[in-house]
Amino acid sequence: MDIKSEIDLDKLPRHVAVIMDGNGRWAKQHGKPRVFGHKNGVRAVRETTEAAAELGIEYLTLYAFSTENWKRPKLEVSALMTLLVETLHQELSTLLKNDVRLNAIGAVEKLPAATYETLLKSIESTRNNQRMTLNLALNYSGKWDILQATRTIAHKVANATIRPEDIDDELIAKYLSTAGMPDPELLIRTSGESRISNFLLWQMAYTELYFTPVFWPDFGKSDLYQAIVAYQQRERRFGKTSDQLLP
Ligand code: IPE
Ligand code: IPE
Ligand code: MG
Repeated sequence: MDIKSEIDLDKLPRHVAVIMDGNGRWAKQHGKPRVFGHKNGVRAVRETTEAAAELGIEYLTLYAFSTENWKRPKLEVSALMTLLVETLHQELSTLLKNDVRLNAIGAVEKLPAATYETLLKSIESTRNNQRMTLNLALNYSGKWDILQATRTIAHKVANATIRPEDIDDELIAKYLSTAGMPDPELLIRTSGESRISNFLLWQMAYTELYFTPVFWPDFGKSDLYQAIVAYQQRERRFGKTSDQLLP
């Protein structure tokens, strides 16, 4: 049976997060430099975004560049930043056609100026789109997110706009970069690695984790469908017993 038809559209995750990993190894497999893998990863970004929007997923968050990725060779970092600019230019029409709103999470103001400006322009051009929000995590890390929220809250406590006793789960979530969005129900990581790598730490407290050996450039629509089918077969207990979940 076609995998897409196995998806229960009434039980879709509202928010899917993806750690797009394995570009370098994919390139190596093809006897090419790492950057060749990144370039080929763009097709997977386009297909995944389109498939998610077509299904009716509300938020798709893609981990594109972590705080730790600055430690990579200079040439690879600058190639990634240039690729991002090119991709944003190239994909803008597809985002508009698919009614996808672009958003960024992370310390994006610290990206190279050309990347930052192109990013802001693309976000601005798509701001009225309704079908899905595509979050690009850029210069992002989960610890950074919690830290920046903590700092903002601390300032508000210092100037007495928030009382320490008002700080709860909900208030913290309001100051994270994902404010107003549901936590991801599903995380997909490609390339066979089984780790979180400082992605959405607070937001993934109860996320279902799905690891696939597929390298990111080979990831396609059917891989997304397969991850969603696997997610729908899981029992999400949130601390309760299985019996308590029966209707
Ligand atoms: C993911 O692929 C892309 C980024 C982190 C920017 P990698 O570049 O990490 O590929 P591998 O893990 O080295 O194969
Ligand atoms: C995680 O991939 C970051 C992104 C996908 C942007 P990495 O390839 O950087 O992760 P580690 O360092 O192997 O954990
Ligand atoms: Mg990697």
